[in-house]
Amino acid sequence: MYTQSFNVPDGASKPNERQTVSAVLTPAQQAVLEAAQVKFDAVIDADGKIEPKDWMPDAYRKTLVRQISQHAHSEIVGMLPEGNWISRAPSLKRKAILIAKVQDEGGHGLYLYSAAETLGTSRDQMLDALHTGKAKYSSIFNYPTLTWADVGVIGWLVDGAAIMNQIPLCRCSYGPYARAMIRVCKEESFHQRQGYEALLAMMKGTQAQQDMVQDAVNRWWWKCLAMFGPPDTDSPNSVQGMRWGIKRISNDDLRQKFVDATVPQARILGVTLPDPELKWNAERGHHDYGNIDWDEFWATVNGNGPCNKERLATRVKAHQDGQWVREAAMAHAQKKSARLAAQQEAA
Ligand code: 3HC
Repeated sequence: MYTQSFNVPDGASKPNERQTVSAVLTPAQQAVLEAAQVKFDAVIDADGKIEPKDWMPDAYRKTLVRQISQHAHSEIVGMLPEGNWISRAPSLKRKAILIAKVQDEGGHGLYLYSAAETLGTSRDQMLDALHTGKAKYSSIFNYPTLTWADVGVIGWLVDGAAIMNQIPLCRCSYGPYARAMIRVCKEESFHQRQGYEALLAMMKGTQAQQDMVQDAVNRWWWKCLAMFGPPDTDSPNSVQGMRWGIKRISNDDLRQKFVDATVPQARILGVTLPDPELKWNAERGHHDYGNIDWDEFWATVNGNGPCNKERLATRVKAHQDGQWVREAAMAHAQKKSARLAAQQEAA
């Protein structure tokens, strides 16, 4: 059940379906619907915010549910590759930082599920889609974390890429998503810096530590570039997402910004980015870079990456193991409200 102020049949916003809708709506209802559409377009054109109780086209709602729930799943699944290292962190300080970071990612997932719930989709529906493999989550979390350097590189590059993508989402046209992203971005910024700082420490260490960092950079670099999504020419959702002010910067433009920002950071760190074609192009004012392996990207997105099955199985098990907690919380809430009702009746 959607939370819009009045019910509109699915697809009512699509011009070719309006005729069908007008066949079932009275002229007065049709006028109300058209006025709502005009108001929605005006808010979008004025770069304003759409709020949960505002009327919105069904396709706008669906796009948001798709993107926000995928984003929430990415945060939750994203806890797993690094969570593997909590018990093996090299010092108490690094362990405390990593626990805080992984916990932050869990929090991001919760804000985002809550934002998606304001669009009328339940948490159960979203989790069911994840657990049955129908929902996507970021490709990047289907790769293994082989050494401690991977944890630093995830902070520096994966969280760095995530921030690049997510800062523009703070200006997303849907209010609850935009507001959730402000806090998420602040925390992601800490994640990026802790990763970079951990790598700086390793690069001041032994040759073996330096080699470990370089090896991790070699394995993660291309996956991080792919994380921004397919090239703009192959991105079916971009044009409409940008028209609605959900997406502000295209996949390719964000990827380019990430490359340009990361090259000087790599230089300071003393690592080589594994791309022989990476070079400054003075004419464009940007770095040129080599070809991304899109076949590998799509194989991973479609469930055939190195860790897809393991990640999903871990999430499903965690959900099943938590069943008793949800039941206990529900039983407690029911008892509490029954007690309150009895007290109110007695008063
Ligand atoms: N992994 C998996 N699927 C991806 C993907 C990726 N890296 N990039 C794109 N896709 C999917 C899209 O979801 C879409 O599939 P769908 O139509 O079935 O939903 C398809 O590929 C085509 O891509 P589009 O470019 O047309 O899709 P979008 O316009 O939605 O753009 C996006 C994709 C840029 C990822 C956008 O959805 C977005 O900005 N999402 C919010 C941010 C997000 O989810 N980030 C994920 C990482 S979060 C994270 O890293 C956690 C942090 O703690 C590190």
